[in-house]
Amino acid sequence: MAILTALPLAAQTALPLAAETAVTGSRLTGLVTAAYIIAGVLFILALGGLSKHETAERGNVLGMTGMAIALVATIALALRDSERPVGVTAVLIAVPMLAGLAIGSWRARTVEMTGMPELVAILHSFVGVAAVLVGYNSFLEADHTATDSLAYIHSVEVFLGVFIGAVTFTGSVVAWGKLSARMKSAPMTLPGRHLLNLGIIVGSFVLMLWFMNEHAELGGVPRAIIPLAIMTVLALVLGFHLVAAIGGGDMPVVVSMLNSYSGWAAAAAGFMLSNDLLIITGSLVGSSGAILSYIMCRAMNRSFISVIAGGFGSDGAVTGEARDYGEHREINAEAAATMLKDAKSVVITPGYGMAVAQAQYPVAELTSKLRAKGISVRFGIHPVAGRLPGHMNVLLAEAKVPYDIVLEMDEINDDFDDTDVVLVIGANDTVNPAALEEPGSPIAGMPVLEVWKARDVIVFKRSMATGYAGVQNPLFFKENSQMLFGDAKERVEDIVRHLSA
Ligand code: TAP
Repeated sequence: MAILTALPLAAQTALPLAAETAVTGSRLTGLVTAAYIIAGVLFILALGGLSKHETAERGNVLGMTGMAIALVATIALALRDSERPVGVTAVLIAVPMLAGLAIGSWRARTVEMTGMPELVAILHSFVGVAAVLVGYNSFLEADHTATDSLAYIHSVEVFLGVFIGAVTFTGSVVAWGKLSARMKSAPMTLPGRHLLNLGIIVGSFVLMLWFMNEHAELGGVPRAIIPLAIMTVLALVLGFHLVAAIGGGDMPVVVSMLNSYSGWAAAAAGFMLSNDLLIITGSLVGSSGAILSYIMCRAMNRSFISVIAGGFGSDGAVTGEARDYGEHREINAEAAATMLKDAKSVVITPGYGMAVAQAQYPVAELTSKLRAKGISVRFGIHPVAGRLPGHMNVLLAEAKVPYDIVLEMDEINDDFDDTDVVLVIGANDTVNPAALEEPGSPIAGMPVLEVWKARDVIVFKRSMATGYAGVQNPLFFKENSQMLFGDAKERVEDIVRHLSA
């Protein structure tokens, strides 16, 4: 999603004078407007396609096509409108674009699926910083002595664009730090932190009024740069503080919220550059990110407002007290294979550990072996299983598991009572009954896959360690649960071998 906004922004920030899209009657302007409309429609169709795994690939192709059209149109406009010789402008566009292309394709090829959330977070920070740069550029180019209504509107665009961009920048850098374990994932809870946030927002509003009404110059520089610069520092602090105050368990929502902010930052840049496509694209990213955040908050039973306001209303505690749940039992691969052979219905609930182990291929093989024996096999996917939305679906699709046996949590949760065996493969928080049974738990209230209702549960993991939220899982100690220790890929391969023997 970030790429939707980052590319046109990158093209435009390199070209301060490039984005004049007002109707001039020229043929090129008409063609560019038509290209922008086509690209906008393709982006909408792309988002529609990305909402289901059956159509996700088509969605991606439509998005890429839209972006190619948008880039060609924007570059054509830039070449026409540049005050420099066309050759110089072309080089100014080509050099940063080629550098970005090289770095981007290298990162996309080398990133592990488990590293995607932090990559997405850092890409959002680029959109934020681009919006800040576009804002300053647009400010320096404007006529500061003008006092007509258009000048005031432009001032608001600049101020809001820089504010949103700066919040997005530091917020995304902190999210990147937390997701990549470069920063502590526990929330930073300063005393009076909500007052601090409120103070920054009110202070920024006052600075905006000063900024809009400041028309004097100071040593050849417009004096309005003072409130703009102070606000930029405050917004950078706000972005840092908002995300630092959010605990690791809520990070999925934060990433999608920052995605939304980056969209609004791009839309604000679109207004400053008078670029209709950037406004449309930014709004699409902004609103789809906000909708996704809302859906994820509902899936985790978190208050949307509380998450975006930096953990508002929570005391920030993340450590579950150590409780004694008793003894766990263990099973080996051979006994697990025998149990599966005797089962009529099996549900597999994958989690982050399946991604780490890259166990999706043997899991797909196990699935087809069991199905060939007439055993019903289905998958239950928790909305935040793994480290980014749709993580498990992508892995299973990659291993060619049929879509129709991959069900969402709500579709499968009522069926566990009638299930013989559940295989919990590298999942932990998403199958933790403490979410429903222990009100003081950091994951209390989060809906989970109720796997413990099945006749037997086999849990694949390497140790008794906790999951992402840092809380112990009473599922491992239930009478119908057995632990199958080791790397998930190796253990599933062992079971497949025993099934074939
Ligand atoms: P987790 O709760 O993180 O549990 C994963 C489990 O996999 C761990 O207990 C780990 O235990 C096991 N594991 C790791 N490597 C393994 C390997 N090679 N073989 C076998 N097991 C392995 O995962 P989950 O159930 O998918 O829950 C997701 C969590 O991440 C939630 O708390 C969620 O809020 C959070 N989160 C989600 C997102 C999104 S958007 N989905 C983004 C960020 C964070 P061992 O170490 O003992 O093996």
